[in-house]
Amino acid sequence: MKILLSADDIQRRVAEMAQQIADDYRGQSVTIVGVLTGCLMFLADLVRHLDLPLRIGLLQASSYRGATTTPGLLRVQLELLPDLRGRHVLLLDDILDTGQTLAYLNRHLQTLDVASLRIAVLLRKEGRQQVPLHVDYRGFDIPDAFVVGYGLDYNDEYRHLPYVAVLNL
Ligand code: IMP
Ligand code: MG
Repeated sequence: MKILLSADDIQRRVAEMAQQIADDYRGQSVTIVGVLTGCLMFLADLVRHLDLPLRIGLLQASSYRGATTTPGLLRVQLELLPDLRGRHVLLLDDILDTGQTLAYLNRHLQTLDVASLRIAVLLRKEGRQQVPLHVDYRGFDIPDAFVVGYGLDYNDEYRHLPYVAVLNL
């Protein structure tokens, strides 16, 4: 597999993103809402750099893809989500591809009377977005290829890799 982003590249960029997020929220309490399962590594690394009062909430979203890069039906589970009313929420996902997942979650969280809502992604695939969506923080723009590692999977494998690599399907 071709390594696209080394573990060092990722760690350096995540620390920079945390600095920017901490500057923007300036001591305000923030609730980070991670999208399982892909957010795990990004979330765990980011929050350890964040010197802010913060809470962590989780939800699960998956769009079945199998061996294709075409998103399928979006399934969302919200059972793990804490009460977000009046909270400054930062929605966190591994990758922005078509934008379907985050656009849906963005719309849903807006209905929960949050104080503010921002979006952070580690990766954004160039030329793939089909749904208009403003992303406040993004780590890297990457070419349109199927990538795995650092939380990203193919059929639930490869998530544990500390780097991001291109998987030849
Ligand atoms: P979107 O709804 O099309 O933006 O897709 C977002 C979700 O699809 C991400 O949260 C990932 O779970 C998954 N996904 C998109 N591209 C990739 C990839 O290259 N590798 C692994 N998962 C991906
Ligand atoms: Mg995902």
